[in-house]
Amino acid sequence: MLVFPASPPAPEERPVLVLDFGGQYSQLIARRVRDARVYSELVSHRLTADQIRAKNPLALILSGGPASVYAEGAPELDSAVLELGIPTLGICYGMQLMARELGGEVESNDVSEYGKTDAELGESALFHNLPPEQVVWMSHRDSVTAPPAGARVTASSPSTPIAAFEDTARGLYGVQFHPEVVHTPDGQEILKNFLYDVAGAPPSWTPAAVIEEQVERIRAQVGSERVICGLSGGVDSAVAALLVYKAVGDQLTCVFVDHGLMRENEAEQVVETFGGHFHVPLVHVRAEDRFLTKLAGVTDPETKRKIVGEEFIRVFEEEADRLGDVRFLVQGTLYSDVIESGGDDGVAAKIKSHHNVGGLPDDMEMDLVEPLRLLFKDEVRRVGEELGMPERMVWRQPFPGPGLSIRIIGDVTKERLEILRAADAVLQEEIRRAGLYRDLWQSFAVLPAIKSVGVQGDERTYAYPVVIRAVTSEDAMTADWARIPYDVLETISNRIINEVPGVNRVALDLSSKPPATIEWE
Ligand code: XMP
Repeated sequence: MLVFPASPPAPEERPVLVLDFGGQYSQLIARRVRDARVYSELVSHRLTADQIRAKNPLALILSGGPASVYAEGAPELDSAVLELGIPTLGICYGMQLMARELGGEVESNDVSEYGKTDAELGESALFHNLPPEQVVWMSHRDSVTAPPAGARVTASSPSTPIAAFEDTARGLYGVQFHPEVVHTPDGQEILKNFLYDVAGAPPSWTPAAVIEEQVERIRAQVGSERVICGLSGGVDSAVAALLVYKAVGDQLTCVFVDHGLMRENEAEQVVETFGGHFHVPLVHVRAEDRFLTKLAGVTDPETKRKIVGEEFIRVFEEEADRLGDVRFLVQGTLYSDVIESGGDDGVAAKIKSHHNVGGLPDDMEMDLVEPLRLLFKDEVRRVGEELGMPERMVWRQPFPGPGLSIRIIGDVTKERLEILRAADAVLQEEIRRAGLYRDLWQSFAVLPAIKSVGVQGDERTYAYPVVIRAVTSEDAMTADWARIPYDVLETISNRIINEVPGVNRVALDLSSKPPATIEWE
């Protein structure tokens, strides 16, 4: 008799759980695990041992945390978790907690150790194939001063004699330093050693696997019902739509509400890519006049946002009504949104209500399909590439929902939109030509509500300035103004002034966030 080997479980069924003790790098740990192609989830440290066992994890990672393990109210771990027999790596606070729970000692140092430190790595599966002399990133005040009984010290630094310990028999590992940050150059290798060699987690979380899994899930959820998806031109809604289309084909209709506030050629690209290239059923609603009528004379930024958001919903609802009986609505909710709104367990550390990014109505009587709910942004991009989405769409810089309306200071008119769009197109082209596009978080043009005097030929002009805004950032919470080379700036400035009627001056925004914001409105 032929016996076929059982197919391996989908990566999502055997996660690596990152227990969040409130450290600033918790989310980063989950991302680094996924960079190693192992599926991970960020969960609350409050999960009990039973809850953790029920998730059937391949491994646990205890994150860092801001507190001392002895501080009142310090985040705790259900000590039975360490008895589950699941390979566990404690990082910083996680290591100290582990040491304390297992009968070791943790003491407060007089001075904290912060920054790059030289460490000496010993014999350990964690450090397999790595040079013993290492630079590692430390950020702690307390230290483990005696390892738990049965554990062996495997690394040290001048001020932290116990920089790592392990109890291989129980599969428990601790490191005082942070392997997840780039300042620990071999940190990712250490994480991989833990995942692959210690925990036996296969590197099977690939874009292709994600697509396969999501397509199956969407089919199971949607059955033979109809689905609607609002396209914004952004990467999230585009990837979500393509996944759903791959799963249920023509049961999906995409609605692209073209508010006329997109950048040059952007609307055409959406229509060409979805309708033309992928043959996704697409309703292209040309609603520029509707939006511009509503925006006429409005100068307050928040009012502009509100108007665009509300009108967007109205148009979308009208189209949904026209389509008739649609049961499901696709949303591009990301894993970072899920984490920030409290996670699927409802217990994650940082509670922040998730604002409806797509700006779609809350009260539509449709069930949500959220195929990106497990993915971080960079994973969405990789899935998009795998699905064959054009490079331009996959790597598009973030663009605000209200579009150019919040980059035109003051009144939004057709004439001013045309000026901004033309100037922005020049800027984008030159930034791409200089190879800077992907390095910048955002780069765009802003049109202020002032005019100034200039001279062109023999004529005096009185025209708009255009402001170049370009920033680097990790997450848009903070940002620095980008140091664009002078020659690139020169080309941008010359071209805008020569090619865009109505502009006679180009300025550069040299402000960081905070105190400025990325957008001007
Ligand atoms: P600020 O200007 O606050 O922007 O530094 C941070 C990030 O958010 C984007 N942004 C928006 N996105 N609707 C959006 O969908 C909005 O109203 C909005 N305002 C700002 C901005 O482009 C940047 O990436």
